Amino acid sequence: EEKILHAVEALKAGQLIIVADDDNREAEGDLIGLSSKVTPEAVNFMTKNARGLLCVPVTKKIAQRLDLHAMTAENSDAFGTAFTISVDHKETTTGISAFDRAKTIKALADPNSEPSDFLRPGHIFPLIAENAGVLKRRGHTEAAVDLARLAHEESAYICEILKEDGKMARTADLKALARKWQLDFITIAELSDYLTHQKKSA
Ligand code: 5RP
Ligand code: ZN
Ligand code: CA
Repeated sequence: EEKILHAVEALKAGQLIIVADDDNREAEGDLIGLSSKVTPEAVNFMTKNARGLLCVPVTKKIAQRLDLHAMTAENSDAFGTAFTISVDHKETTTGISAFDRAKTIKALADPNSEPSDFLRPGHIFPLIAENAGVLKRRGHTEAAVDLARLAHEESAYICEILKEDGKMARTADLKALARKWQLDFITIAELSDYLTHQKKSA
């Protein structure tokens, strides 16, 4: 409980945290930050140190409002990760610099954004979270949006963490990286337990 609340406070302060999914699922760790608090420096840290694919989980509500539809008609991904068409904010140039990506991420979380603010395809990959969150699907997409909701927001940006040798960082590696980078480390199992208890006491 305390761990989750601490992680939410870190997110609210604009920090990144590390979130691991179940060992019998992808067994990977993603860096996660709140989209509204994104900075070019944080994007640069992610692309330099985590080196996975930078994606932006959003609620179904945001996806509908911004006309972000599914990337493919059929989803044959092993875990059904809900990729939409990729986007860039219209005021970007290459779309890929840390500055351009931060601009696109921030705009995805901006309640005043409109569909026409985005170019398609682009260099940022929105993902659509299940409304019921990790209690329904134990993926990083739902964990990111559940954590954003705990911070009274609706979107977060994420990136998988690879080791120096290019293989996936597993639990022990992730814990060591959390210490090295001085970031909070939580698991989706812990988040799910926290939300289950919260629901029961509501
Ligand atoms: C996008 C992915 C990652 O696994 C990401 O963590 C989101 O997927 P999921 O919600 O399935 O965990 O595939 O790069
Ligand atoms: Zn994945
Ligand atoms: Ca994942």
